[in-house]
Amino acid sequence: MANVLVTGGTGYIGSHTVVELLQAGHEVVIMDNLYNSSIAVLDRIEEITGKKPKFYQTDLLDQEGLKKIFEENKLDAVIHFAGYKAVGESVEKPLLYYENNIQGSINLYQAMADANVKKIVFSSSATVYGDPASVPIREDFPVHTTNPYGSTKLMNEMILEDIAHADPEWSVLLLRYFNPIGAHQSGLLGEVPNGIPNNLVPYIARVANGQLEYLRVWGNDYDTVDGTGVRDYIHVVDLAKGHICALDYALKHTGVEKVNLGTGNGYSVLQVLHAYENACGKELPYQIMDRRPGDIATCYADTTKAKELLGWEAQYNIEDMCNDSWNFTVKNPDGIK
Ligand code: WQD
Repeated sequence: MANVLVTGGTGYIGSHTVVELLQAGHEVVIMDNLYNSSIAVLDRIEEITGKKPKFYQTDLLDQEGLKKIFEENKLDAVIHFAGYKAVGESVEKPLLYYENNIQGSINLYQAMADANVKKIVFSSSATVYGDPASVPIREDFPVHTTNPYGSTKLMNEMILEDIAHADPEWSVLLLRYFNPIGAHQSGLLGEVPNGIPNNLVPYIARVANGQLEYLRVWGNDYDTVDGTGVRDYIHVVDLAKGHICALDYALKHTGVEKVNLGTGNGYSVLQVLHAYENACGKELPYQIMDRRPGDIATCYADTTKAKELLGWEAQYNIEDMCNDSWNFTVKNPDGIK
């Protein structure tokens, strides 16, 4: 078993991954600056697993703080989630995103190299594919980013590839997530967005619990099954389990691998809305609006490589994702405090 540093480990995907790591028998150290998450998540992790990981409230820009973590812990690998992730905000504040997501990550990679920790699983995104020429999307498809957030993901991939090229002892797994939704079946962990959610399912959840009046559907004139955008939604617990498979692979190999983590199925906005209506037992109001700038029509994964290389495939369906999201929302109307 390994001792793993999880940056951003009190966040949405990070906390679910910490639970799976602990339940797989790994040791975990969490580093998070709590900018977009609550320290109360540690108690939720303990309630689920019976273990409370060592925690450092440290920012990626704090090089001394990073050095301290590697000096105080004998680490085998890093799973790197920490970073800003709002597409719209990244367009308004590009320097904030480049400083945090690029300079911060470089600080982490330097601290790893200095401590001879050369195994990393990186949280990348399907957003690096831009608007694909066809679907399903394979890992060898062209990459093209259309916003600073997506560019920071692609730049991190390039930086890690260059590090591994210069030092063949490194093992780098670049995981390209499609659309993570849902929550832990216990209802103790889930997505807690700051302010008004940008993403579809957290917004629907707020409509379902009465905090928001109706869903704005960003366009219904796309070339899709019902004109609304189609995405590959993946249960956050499936995604977390994918990280355990990627870590196991990284521990046994060196070199760089890019892997899609999706289900291979695409669902439209209205199909997701109806699945959520079934989950919450209510009719959910919506209004068709103009397209959202930067949106693409259709995006879903070719999942062949994840299955063949990591032995992983998603298990949960869209009903599970909506049921678990709704269960978390009902149990945590004000998020995790
Ligand atoms: C999904 C669909 C919208 C909200 C983004 C990031 C990506 C990744 C996942 C981090 C689209 C429609 C949405 C709403 C709507 N994040 N929609 N009304 O844009 O596919 O991906 O989140 O890695 O980087 O770009 O996700 O949930 O915002 O949108 O109609 O209120 O739902 O138009 O078709 P997206 P999303």
